[in-house]
Amino acid sequence: MKTTTKLGAMGLSLMALAACAPAEQTTLMYGDQPMEDVIAQMTLDQKANMVLGTARGLMFPPDAAPGMPNRNGVDINELIKQAQERAEKGDTMTISTFMGSGRVPGDAAEGYAIDSLGIPSIAYADGPAGLRINPTREGDENTYYCTAFPTGTILAASWDTETVEKVTKAMGNEVLEYGVDVLLAPALNIHRNPLCGRNFEYYSEDPILAGKIAAAYVNGIQSNGVGTSIKHFAVNSQETMRNGIDAVVSERAIREIYLKGFEIAVKESKPWTVMSSYNKINGVLASENKWLLTDVLRGEWGYDGVVMTDWWAEEDGARQQAAGNDLLMPGTQHQYDEIVNGIKNGTLAEADLNRNITNILNLIQKTPTFKGYKYSNKPDLKAHAQLVRENGSCGTVLLENKDNVLPLAANAKIAAFGNASYDTYVGGTGSGNVNRAYKVNINEGLKNAGFTLVEDLEKAYTAYITAAKSKQAAESFWATPFVEDLNLSAAQIKAAIDKADVAIYTISRQAGEGADRKLEKGDYYLTDVEATNLKNISEAAHAAGKKLVVLLNMGSIIELTEQVPLVDGLVHVFMPGQEAGNSIADVLSGKVNPSGKLPMTWAKAYKDYPSAVDFPLSPGEDRVVKYTEDIFVGYRHFDKNKVEPLYPFGFGKSYTTFEYANLAVKANGDTYTVTVDVKNTGKVAGREVVQLYISAPKGTLEKPVKELKAFCKSALVQPGQTATVTMTFKKADLASYDEAKKQWVVDPGTYTLNAAASAADLRLNTTINL
Ligand code: BGC
Repeated sequence: MKTTTKLGAMGLSLMALAACAPAEQTTLMYGDQPMEDVIAQMTLDQKANMVLGTARGLMFPPDAAPGMPNRNGVDINELIKQAQERAEKGDTMTISTFMGSGRVPGDAAEGYAIDSLGIPSIAYADGPAGLRINPTREGDENTYYCTAFPTGTILAASWDTETVEKVTKAMGNEVLEYGVDVLLAPALNIHRNPLCGRNFEYYSEDPILAGKIAAAYVNGIQSNGVGTSIKHFAVNSQETMRNGIDAVVSERAIREIYLKGFEIAVKESKPWTVMSSYNKINGVLASENKWLLTDVLRGEWGYDGVVMTDWWAEEDGARQQAAGNDLLMPGTQHQYDEIVNGIKNGTLAEADLNRNITNILNLIQKTPTFKGYKYSNKPDLKAHAQLVRENGSCGTVLLENKDNVLPLAANAKIAAFGNASYDTYVGGTGSGNVNRAYKVNINEGLKNAGFTLVEDLEKAYTAYITAAKSKQAAESFWATPFVEDLNLSAAQIKAAIDKADVAIYTISRQAGEGADRKLEKGDYYLTDVEATNLKNISEAAHAAGKKLVVLLNMGSIIELTEQVPLVDGLVHVFMPGQEAGNSIADVLSGKVNPSGKLPMTWAKAYKDYPSAVDFPLSPGEDRVVKYTEDIFVGYRHFDKNKVEPLYPFGFGKSYTTFEYANLAVKANGDTYTVTVDVKNTGKVAGREVVQLYISAPKGTLEKPVKELKAFCKSALVQPGQTATVTMTFKKADLASYDEAKKQWVVDPGTYTLNAAASAADLRLNTTINL
């Protein structure tokens, strides 16, 4: 006979009973009994399964990402070709999901269940801009759409941790109400280079900004009682050859730049899980890297959650387990065999396997699934859409506003040029995509806001886009085919401008995981058609005494140095989520005063980025990428080498102006509190992002000219009013990592504190002595 114990104290008495009756076998159930007792009952087969996702039947990702390894003898190019052919025939499975086999169709993976021990399977799903699950289910009339929230870069450009937490609280509610336990987000790799295909999901070139935004994100999601997965840990700066590329980078740069954001997120928000990355770091795969996953993450930072691999990141399952990579996703037969053989031949210690299982069991215990939460499958999508509309402009960056062309006059008639004015990108591709019910394009948003559009132009664009798309491959999981901009004749442009008060030209770029952006026309550079249109529209508008506003609808940046003199207004609207058109119209109409600031340095030329010397853009034999710029990423490089950017890090204008005064610093032990007054000296209410850059004294190590150490976004300040912003930092935050000493070192001396409006606009300074 077999009994099970489910109730703590009663369980003990049942055990006692069982002891008196040797014929009976007692099962110690998960949730009530010490974890080690539960694990002790598992067979080796169960143990190996517990540390794997349940997709072992799948030989490989159904649609292999360019750059996937060829371990299983699969011809990757052939797989890509097949996937493309399927997408061309309209197979939407390639868009919506990798998997979708479990309780929540379209999730990214499920965990292993052992019913006899009371261990349930939990659900893991993407991603950073909202939950990614299948929107429809066979034989079910209900729909399961999710909200497409603002993407990573625009959240970071808000520099507003409160808004990020508010938005992700709603996002986490969809995770909970659709029955998912862990959201595979946020993604916070450093923008080392503007061509990284996933920069739209990531936050910044600066680790403090990235870390603080990520911590706010995790706190928002996890306030719902569901988990997150901060990813991709670590140094995953590119997609080309993402599996197995070797990032060769100094320990100082790893710690100060590439790990810092993760460290902040771990310490300030306790994410339930961490996702290790595909790449190698100095020769060792991140997912097999004991130094990274155990010594630093757990040992130094005190992390006690689960580490999972990125999907199909594998070389040796036993080595991954030994390194402290608890969960191997979505699980392969290879990994299963390697773990079982490793235990049998002694290359994998059973204690390591048990430790990893304990971490996974601790995670499961926290989940809604374990707690029996009855999810509704009916989150309040209307309320969330409203929230997205209100916050889709939280990070809009106003780059140019010559002669106050913006905000536009109420009821202005607009000649809206550019495909993306009618087919707006609200999010990226790949696992960062969200299956939303609808999107609002810019033309629709403008009309909703009371503007009128030049109808002929609207008709010409919509007809052109529909025709062009019908000739192209359908959208796939990996890519949205690029539609060249409508080639306008000078007469067409003039006719449209004659009928309008102002011209808008929207330029968009799409990107996503699996590939980097291209250093070509149509991606980093404007196409000839775009460049000519822009020039002709600018000339025609100015000849008619009218203005041109250019909108940039993309997750990253493009080269625009030649075009800036041609525009009156320039606004980076990023990818603001499904209410894009409405959120953008709110800024153009002045309902919202833009308050975003760039989370990256915008160079005049690509070659000005130091990583340009080693950022491979096509898969090749040489899988080694040397991070020779070391810690001098982004503004740290532009400062050091006195390279003038097109727009500096932290830059963004407003419809008003701010004056800074009364910079003060107070020390309390090792904590410093900095206050600054910002006075609104303009005519409309606005918010100001104040940045605190600190310059260190000369010490043993070379230091950046200055580094961001804290920031604060003011509340809405009315004209003539003053707000005080408060920023804090700790003495330890001033440290650099000394590789020779193997420790963080704070040099003694005088530190200069700058309160700044951007990395190139330092307003006030003061000093502290250490
Ligand atoms: C991506 C991850 C994602 C996972 C599951 C991988 O290809 O790199 O960011 O969470 O797939 O979909």
